[in-house]
Amino acid sequence: MQSTNHHPFTEGLLTWYRQHARELPWRQTQDPYAIWLSEVVLQQTRVAQGLPYYLKLLEVFPTVESLAQADESVLFRHWQGLGYYSRARNLHKTAKLVVSEYQGQFPATYDELIQLPGVGPYTAAAIASFAFGEAKPVVDGNVFRILARYFGIETDILHSSARKEFTDVALELIPIDQPAEFNQAIMDFGSLQCSPAPICASCPLSLTCFAFQQKRVQDFPVKQKKAKQRNRHFNYFILEQGNKVLVRERKDKDIWSGLWEFYLLESQQEEDLESLLESDVNLFKCLQGASVQALKSPKIHLLSHQKIHCRAWHVQVPDNLEISQMAEFQWIRPEDFEKLGKSVLLLNLITDNLHLEIFNDSMPR
Ligand code: ADE
Repeated sequence: MQSTNHHPFTEGLLTWYRQHARELPWRQTQDPYAIWLSEVVLQQTRVAQGLPYYLKLLEVFPTVESLAQADESVLFRHWQGLGYYSRARNLHKTAKLVVSEYQGQFPATYDELIQLPGVGPYTAAAIASFAFGEAKPVVDGNVFRILARYFGIETDILHSSARKEFTDVALELIPIDQPAEFNQAIMDFGSLQCSPAPICASCPLSLTCFAFQQKRVQDFPVKQKKAKQRNRHFNYFILEQGNKVLVRERKDKDIWSGLWEFYLLESQQEEDLESLLESDVNLFKCLQGASVQALKSPKIHLLSHQKIHCRAWHVQVPDNLEISQMAEFQWIRPEDFEKLGKSVLLLNLITDNLHLEIFNDSMPR
């Protein structure tokens, strides 16, 4: 049951927010497009990192129509560095859908918003509350942590039932007269006060906080041990022939799907060049009479659950060597490759090797 009679938690949180609210540009607007854009940028991204991207994207694509009409490659270029390109792809899909199916007007309810590509329960709740005043609580890791501590909830937050349980608690707390303030407040409270290393000494909720009163702040939220990180070994070959490079679009159900890369050999462990060549007949053929140069590479690239060990070589294939067509791959000019979306790892690899002639003048710096 929701009422305007606020729970002490809600009262304390809103009072805290009046003193500590962060001034963020997406809080100065009611435009659902701008709010949606900010929320998608902020998925899996910290505010400080996402903020310049949000401002730039809004400048380049000020309306949902302008985003819908944009070339995906242009959007990808402005997205570069934010990672998780499926978000950018869904952003574009949703913009087109809002224009074609909703006459450019964002749907105004949580139940409709959550149907849009890339809009999950958190994002739908954020847009519904900020733009339309609907009392739907945002629930993410911050909210799990705050509520687990305050109410002493012992449920493992990685358990499949956790989201529903915490959402039910949050639904009891969110006030129907101030849902936007509540959601904004809980976001800031989780970042600034009840963070993973909380500042309990100055917390206005500490007197009624279960974890603080029981001296068990570090016990919450309850969480299973993290899954082990996966180690992967990426060996990139920048194959060049006649001022063209061999590239492909990643299409598998794997990281960086939709982004472009050079010829890649993934190995189970670190391998020397000879062993790599022995394992790949196409590459072996390309290297007949070619000059091969080991490149500087980023070495290690960390993703949330993967550690990519990277090495790279430049291979100048003689012009007269006939290379048979390799499935998925194509030879393109470096200036055309520059326009395509790439992972941060690949951008770093290029930046580390701008001395190569093929990268001169055509690649980003
Ligand atoms: N994280 C996700 N959405 C946010 C928002 N609207 N304000 C601050 N941090 C956020």
